[in-house]
Amino acid sequence: MSTRTVYYIEGDGIGPEVWAAARPVLNAALEKAYAGANKLDWKELLAGGKAFKETGEYLPQVTLDTLSNADLAMKGPLQTPVGKGFRSLNVTMRQTFDLYACIRPIKYFKGIESPVKRPDLVDIVVFRENTEDVYAGIEWSSNSPEAKRVIEFLVDEMGAKIDSSAGIGIKPITPAGSKRLVRRALDFALEQNRESVTLVHKGNIMKYTEGGFLKWGYELAAEDYAGKVVRDGEEGEGKVIINDRIADAMFQELLMRPEKYSVLATTNLNGDYLSDALAAQVGGLGLAPGVNMGDKLAIYEPTHGTAPTIAGKDMANPGSLILSGAMLLEHIGWNEAADLIKNSVEKSLAAKKVTVDLSSQISGAATVGCKEFGEIILANL
Ligand code: NAI
Repeated sequence: MSTRTVYYIEGDGIGPEVWAAARPVLNAALEKAYAGANKLDWKELLAGGKAFKETGEYLPQVTLDTLSNADLAMKGPLQTPVGKGFRSLNVTMRQTFDLYACIRPIKYFKGIESPVKRPDLVDIVVFRENTEDVYAGIEWSSNSPEAKRVIEFLVDEMGAKIDSSAGIGIKPITPAGSKRLVRRALDFALEQNRESVTLVHKGNIMKYTEGGFLKWGYELAAEDYAGKVVRDGEEGEGKVIINDRIADAMFQELLMRPEKYSVLATTNLNGDYLSDALAAQVGGLGLAPGVNMGDKLAIYEPTHGTAPTIAGKDMANPGSLILSGAMLLEHIGWNEAADLIKNSVEKSLAAKKVTVDLSSQISGAATVGCKEFGEIILANL
């Protein structure tokens, strides 16, 4: 008998509705898979509008303190408070807890309309580095004193050729940051019996940043995964293969030969592009789950936002939150319950009674509300 505590944040906008539809599904899947032997103990934490109403703060200290000792959390979407001086609550949480891996599984569900011929060949998990790269926020606008100072240094002391009017952005990529992300991807591939991990980079052009990522990824595999992970072409029945692709070629590969790829590990900007392109390939972002993960804490969340125009109208699709819950269950090794959920979502889509975002994409489908779609998924478990 095992009980795991999951801290949850309801979120703003459609958050409360999708939670009300999703939680019964997650609990029922556990009951069906383990008959009470494995359970989740849900504990609410406040953040966003609900927190502000009850405590006067958008991100109360007690929420941060609790999460700093936690390992599992799930959150609904949070609206960034309007007005000066508010940082995005999502970014604050990612930085506070050093959630360096953004992980998004992308898989096709039968029945959804897709812009490609064989979306069913896509079954790929993207591991995107979340803290470095041009997303580190180190940049200065064209003609600002800061940009001018940096340019002066680069031209005078480093011999670089840059126009004095350039806007400047810095792209830091570290060995430690790259290795911890690649480690996550390799561990996942080994645990979930995935065939390969592909390092995606633009190292042919950006030799010391993207190229560094590639070099450090291979170094890690050789140093810490000898005997478990092999390079492309090496002998290794049943072992995870590590290979690499240049980012631009990867976009072609994913459209033309997606079945050859299983797990991608990549830098922040590449990962941002690749995960949205892949999601579009299987029919859009509507059902996409995700997690932001550090060494200790993992926060599972849907990839959509608060959808303010449909909030409170029983129109939201709870699928993304439900599938984020399935990811959490896989992460703690409760794969039987996760499989029940994924199969049930597929069965429910095939039955063509779905929320409006999906009914518009499935020919002949009827529209049901958020609550009813949750009940259908529960009934199909
Ligand atoms: P959004 O994802 O909320 O909405 C984009 C479009 O998708 C809208 O048409 C919306 O109605 C629809 N949509 C989204 N989720 C849906 C669902 N579950 N079912 C049916 N339709 C759905 O993105 P938007 O409008 O850019 O952002 C709204 C707010 O959400 C902003 O305040 C933003 O900062 C926040 N946001 C929060 C995120 C998070 O907490 N992780 C992620 C993205 C946005």
